[in-house]
Amino acid sequence: MAADDMPSDTIDDLLAEDRRFPPSEEIKADTLVAGTFLYDEAAADDEGFWARQAADLVSWDEPWHTILDWQLPYSKWFLGGTLNVAYNCLDRHVEAGLGDRVALHWEGEPGDTRTITYAQLLDEVQRFANVLRSLGVERGDRVNIYLPMIPEAAVAMLACARIGAAHSVVFGGFSSQALADRINDAEAKVLVTADGGHRRGEVFPLKPAADEALESTPSIEHVVVVKRGGNDVTMVEGRDHWYHELMAAADPVCPAEPMDAEQLLFLLYTSGTTGKPKGIMHTSGGYLTHVTYTHKYVFDLHPETDVYWCTADVGWVTGHSYIVYGPLSNGATQVMYEGVPNFPGNDRFWEIVEKYGVTILYTAPTAIRTFMKWGAEEPAKHDLSSLRLLGSVGEPINPEAWMWYHEHIGGGRCPIVDTWWQTETGGIMISPLPGATTTKPGSATFPLPGVSAEVVDDAGQRVERGGGYLTLTRPWPGMLRGIWGDPERYRDTYWSRFEGRYFAGDGAKLDDDGYLWLLGRVDDVMNVSGHRISTTEVESALVSHPAVAEAAVVGATDATTGQAIIAYVITRGGADVGVEELRAHVAAEIGAIAKPKTIYLTPDLPKTRSGKIMRRLLRDVAEGRNLGDTTTLADASVVDELQRRAVDAAGDD
Ligand code: WTA
Repeated sequence: MAADDMPSDTIDDLLAEDRRFPPSEEIKADTLVAGTFLYDEAAADDEGFWARQAADLVSWDEPWHTILDWQLPYSKWFLGGTLNVAYNCLDRHVEAGLGDRVALHWEGEPGDTRTITYAQLLDEVQRFANVLRSLGVERGDRVNIYLPMIPEAAVAMLACARIGAAHSVVFGGFSSQALADRINDAEAKVLVTADGGHRRGEVFPLKPAADEALESTPSIEHVVVVKRGGNDVTMVEGRDHWYHELMAAADPVCPAEPMDAEQLLFLLYTSGTTGKPKGIMHTSGGYLTHVTYTHKYVFDLHPETDVYWCTADVGWVTGHSYIVYGPLSNGATQVMYEGVPNFPGNDRFWEIVEKYGVTILYTAPTAIRTFMKWGAEEPAKHDLSSLRLLGSVGEPINPEAWMWYHEHIGGGRCPIVDTWWQTETGGIMISPLPGATTTKPGSATFPLPGVSAEVVDDAGQRVERGGGYLTLTRPWPGMLRGIWGDPERYRDTYWSRFEGRYFAGDGAKLDDDGYLWLLGRVDDVMNVSGHRISTTEVESALVSHPAVAEAAVVGATDATTGQAIIAYVITRGGADVGVEELRAHVAAEIGAIAKPKTIYLTPDLPKTRSGKIMRRLLRDVAEGRNLGDTTTLADASVVDELQRRAVDAAGDD
């Protein structure tokens, strides 16, 4: 992030939210964690606490001799311990007599379905592990996975884990160039892909994109292709193989071998401030402990009765930790959905919730705001009474979206867990525990038991109240072990800003009650006339206006005030609202200093394919700069339209 984007003091504490939601009697009667006992235990001895979680929740072949070896910034957990991650996600449940439990209720976008039990998933994973071995994959090798949201994605990941190969999953929406870069950085031996997948009523081709990537990926020796889209593909003799043919010939037995606790489990690439993506490294014992523990307690999981659904894609960390490893390690029954929320209608998600009796739903604020835009009548078409718990992840959830989620999806009765974490943290770090925490709409509340988070000012001094930078002060089992092939960048990115602390890159504030409020990335914090104002707070204020569906706010350089607040607003169902009225609304919500200088009403916002608003592009538009790389945009035409409007507005001045 640019140094001139750094707040020099603290972020002004502007938004006051005084609604409170204590755990209901209903959830308290049957929760895993009522009261503070987990917090107390962890506060007394965090390493001992994590060791107890590791012992209680994970099956080990050899016990560890050392809980933690901490040589800042490198941690190793459960040294000497051995385990097999796939054994933990599959075999142990089957051995316990749960082989017939449904692991995946898979729903294809066209409406086809598959029901896969734990016993069937174990069978498939063993066969595919043998397939990988037959293609020359050995312990320590990397395997790339480029698949749609189909069960084979989980199978491929678990098969890698079973034989000690690390997977590197690349989101199916990424381009062939992005795929090639990631394959080459990881020097993967095998690529697992599909002919295509279903999205918004059409087949999107994956193998043709993979073929383009494969022209410049010398490390790849074999390609395995799952048949899903039915689109035509070219198969290269000797290199490319159909998944179903290899599986039919595969040996069905592949015993789970013990792996070192610090065996590399996966690489997952995330973008940083430079163009080159970072291969975030996660290992086995600590990561599995972290995701099993958080999935169990944050979602208050009752695996015998719950039907859990995380709407993320396996291409992102949320899919790794909370579709594959956490839920399967806990023996959960879950829904996996291939497609988009608006095919064939805007109520597809609610149809799925009703059909499978989903009890726990985990989704993203950007999705929730989209549902708001589509209107409450869509969920109202379905019986959502099976839901008992809702989760949010990926960005700050503004109080208005939180309240809408609470009322229109949760029927006013479901607790909401707003979970803060990152690809780098491996699992959830800050979140309510639904049976123990009184929530406030928009606040992620408190660090989980075992997690130490502090807000600090620019000088690295702890802030007790008000805004600053979110840091993590103690190592945790799921923490990244480094950046693949780039130890310097690991140290620089995360450990150089504040001495002895992991710096997450997020702004946060603590309110009078000690609740944490995430304020977005610090490069999204504006400085207007010397006041630090979070883009998130202004966005929340805008979205709290009844005519506003979605808003994105950026700070643009301004000769008088340092930065000026520029807002891009999508109105609800094309509602007619004046820009002056919105400015006045923000002033009333936060204060006159937070009033946007300019508001553009727009039909759409530039988003990445994972749904994050690209503020950098909006800043470029606001400041009249040439746009850089727009290839990761979901829809590049949005930016052209915004630029046209900006030029028109400048003409009006
Ligand atoms: C943001 C996704 C506010 C944050 C799991 C973080 C959030 C980045 C929240 C990581 C939340 C994630 N409230 N902000 N509940 N969850 N973020 O690596 O800026 O894709 O640094 O991991 O998303 O994004 P990533």
